[in-house]
Amino acid sequence: DTPEELVPRAPIVTIMGHVDHGKTSLLDYIRTAKVTADEAGGITQHIGAYDVMTKDGNKIAFLDTPGHEAFTAMRARGAKITDVAIIVIAADDNVMPQTKEAINHAQVAGVPMIFAINKIDRPNSNPNKIKEELANMNLLVEEWGGKYQSQDISAKTGQGIDDLLEKVLLEAEILELKANPNKNAQGTVVEAALDKGRGYVSTVMVQAGTLKVGDIMLAGQHYGRVKAMFDHTGKKVKQAGPSTPVQVLGLSGAPQAGDIIKVYDTEREAREIANSR
Ligand code: GTP
Ligand code: NA
Ligand code: MG
Repeated sequence: DTPEELVPRAPIVTIMGHVDHGKTSLLDYIRTAKVTADEAGGITQHIGAYDVMTKDGNKIAFLDTPGHEAFTAMRARGAKITDVAIIVIAADDNVMPQTKEAINHAQVAGVPMIFAINKIDRPNSNPNKIKEELANMNLLVEEWGGKYQSQDISAKTGQGIDDLLEKVLLEAEILELKANPNKNAQGTVVEAALDKGRGYVSTVMVQAGTLKVGDIMLAGQHYGRVKAMFDHTGKKVKQAGPSTPVQVLGLSGAPQAGDIIKVYDTEREAREIANSR
């Protein structure tokens, strides 16, 4: 891609943290609060990824994966899909073993972290204690003069979540995320399953280019012509550009999470590559 072909793209965020610290609650709060009313009716199923519009009209895509196992599995398959990691830590608990693992995974992957100090609605919560524990690990938060963004939040009441999303956008700005939308799509499979009635359904995060209905797509050992695509609200779409999660129908099977997708000119090419794998 030449510099002229590159245009800004939305950040792709993964939420990680210790068990029960509130990852799912945060994802659910963001999804339900940020999806516009007319779309909200369509949300019936978990699809592995979604995107939202912040209050000032910026897009953020979220991987709705259960913690760092999925993050690690995807990385093991060569997928680099996360731009920013939100590390959720419950303010009525401590920095726990899985918190440390999540931090470690983000650091090894070179993915910037934002700490979301959660459950501040709880009377026994103590966000400062968490920041102290982080400082003891050499992770000094910005408000204490360090380089790590952190935000006190409640995934229950929504307090602080708009500010958290602003901090994600700030981090994204520093990263200068860009992609060329005007080429064959490249992306990663987030999850895939057999849906009785619709056939194999793959959730794909498009990372560059644009995926279109009619494209011949290959993912892992499976290929096929894209028959139909849906956004995370279940609405039919004809194309999906960079940083857009989309459900794809038409593959010959269910690829694995972390499989890279590519688009080919002919079905023969895609078949030959699939068969050689
Ligand atoms: P695992 O996926 O099992 O690792 O947990 P998780 O990190 O996804 O946590 P989850 O969102 O399931 O939350 C665990 C419990 O904490 C649930 O009972 C939530 O209702 C509760 N919880 C999460 N966030 C908050 C919060 O901000 N305030 C309060 N009061 N409770 C919360
Ligand atoms: Na839980
Ligand atoms: Mg969960």
